[in-house]
Amino acid sequence: MLVAIDGPVGAGKSTVARAVAQRLGFTYLDTGAMYRCVALAAIDDESADRVRPVAELQIDFAGDAVMLDHADVTAAIRTPEVSQRASQVATDVAVREALVERQRKLTARGDWVAEGRDIGTVVRPDAELKVFLTASDEERAARRAAQTGRPVAEELADLRERDERDRTREASPLRRADDAVEVDTTGLPFDAVVERIAALVEEARA
Ligand code: DC
Repeated sequence: MLVAIDGPVGAGKSTVARAVAQRLGFTYLDTGAMYRCVALAAIDDESADRVRPVAELQIDFAGDAVMLDHADVTAAIRTPEVSQRASQVATDVAVREALVERQRKLTARGDWVAEGRDIGTVVRPDAELKVFLTASDEERAARRAAQTGRPVAEELADLRERDERDRTREASPLRRADDAVEVDTTGLPFDAVVERIAALVEEARA
């Protein structure tokens, strides 16, 4: 079974997807981390004056850790610079094709909660359950600021810039799949969101 969770920046996709996966005994897939690895590699390549094709990048998940070419990049891929760069490399059709193919292969067997921007629309339109997770811009910015320690206004500007790029790009733009259930998490406690999605999974299974 595959549960697809898509939505804009800071809607709580990763924490919610992780918690839902743990509760159901499914495996969690953070597809944004893969775009972030490509972005980090592009930044590194610039300083080394070379460009590696995505096919040459070794991206792995080891529990909660994200590995790029066997190095632990879990923290390195979370900087504001890498966030913006990830949303830029994600507009590249060749990058998307390569990552989507890996995501399809990875999730072909077993039970998954996969989270990103295009899981329900492009990667796995056959997902048994599609959730589109949203929250108001202000709440998303406040949540991110609480995590990063940066000012809310900076987080707000950053997330609006990324959302705009993610929604308006030509290749697989962020949008709600027609058959996705929209869950607006504004003002909802985290546990209630996990509860709601777990209930949707039970419904989809029945
Ligand atoms: O979910 P995230 O913030 O870690 O994702 C980083 C960027 O990667 C995001 O701005 C857009 C891109 N992305 C994408 O285009 N498709 C996905 N399935 C996941 C992420």
